[in-house]
Amino acid sequence: MKNSHGGNIDEIKRNYKIKDLVDFSANINPLGISKTVKEAMINAIEDVVHYPDITYLDLINSISEFENIEKNNIFLGNGAAEVIFNIVRGLKPKRALLYGPSFSEYSEALSSVDCNIDYYILKDKCNLDLGILDMINKETDIIFICNPNNPTGALCKRDMIEEILKASKRKDVTVVIDESFLEFVRNSKEFTLINSLKHYDNLIIVKSLTKIFAFPGIRLGYGLTKNKEYLEKINKNTISWSVNTIANKAGIAALKESLYIKNTISFVEEENKFLFNNLSLFKDLKVFKGYANFIFFKTFKNIDLKEELLKYGILIRSCENYIGLDMSYYRVAVRTREENIKLIKSLQEIVN
Ligand SMILES: Cc1ncc(COP(=O)(O)O)c(C=O)c1O
Repeated sequence: MKNSHGGNIDEIKRNYKIKDLVDFSANINPLGISKTVKEAMINAIEDVVHYPDITYLDLINSISEFENIEKNNIFLGNGAAEVIFNIVRGLKPKRALLYGPSFSEYSEALSSVDCNIDYYILKDKCNLDLGILDMINKETDIIFICNPNNPTGALCKRDMIEEILKASKRKDVTVVIDESFLEFVRNSKEFTLINSLKHYDNLIIVKSLTKIFAFPGIRLGYGLTKNKEYLEKINKNTISWSVNTIANKAGIAALKESLYIKNTISFVEEENKFLFNNLSLFKDLKVFKGYANFIFFKTFKNIDLKEELLKYGILIRSCENYIGLDMSYYRVAVRTREENIKLIKSLQEIVN
């Protein structure tokens, strides 16, 4: 069993014998599940006696419309995590280039197919820089880019990613861009590489619906690429019916929720600013500017903030196990104003 991610509240509650826990460790939409999506899930219960539509035509149509992309450029997964695994199982890369810190599921998926991994450590521990290009060699098969990056929240400009894409295309390297948190960003259209899919047949984009629509317990993600060979290999390695009936119906309803997304962006922007400003007042913290629904910081105090905050019923993400980081780094989700105040007040009591 894996336990290297945030959001493991049941395990923490069991181990620490805590009844109520505010979860700042998983980056889920603080507005919670939308009414329409919830209704779609409840209605879908009646249909679980049947297999889901194996072609997922309605869901594929919804994604096609939402992303403005052709239907046959889409592949599905039981969460973006499964999409990532399906990509590496399909493409079977022998050597990968990852940077740290970034999302750990890339290395876990690559290791599952015995792929060797080279790591580029980010110069400022936060932002991707073009130094990574020097690490591409003739053996490199695949690169993963996370935009906005988990755990730092850093957002990469499109020009810079295009540089990486161009160099990778010349060297026949696949580039996977994980845009799972991009829906939380205002003007996400300026940052997405979806419009570049037509220019780069070495590009795959991964998206998760579990964060923005607050259903990590239901699971739904997808991948986008124009490359027919990739699609064939990935689909061959995808388990039939891996998206369950409830996720299927939830996804179709969710992708119509443009107002909910708009409200989420405004809410998260406001609360991100509130948390950032308040965390920045602590003289022993270095807070990094993040553009998604979470905030990354470093403490200069020799103190285990995760353990200390658990005494206040708060779970945060220690970033100790991210490549390039150590136990002085943490990540907190942007939550509701009331919860964010609880976090700040608890931190004040701990450090003072
Ligand atoms: C960057 C990133 N991509 C993908 C995922 C996986 O998302 P899903 O819940 O859709 O599997 C996560 C989960 O934390 C993530 O942080």
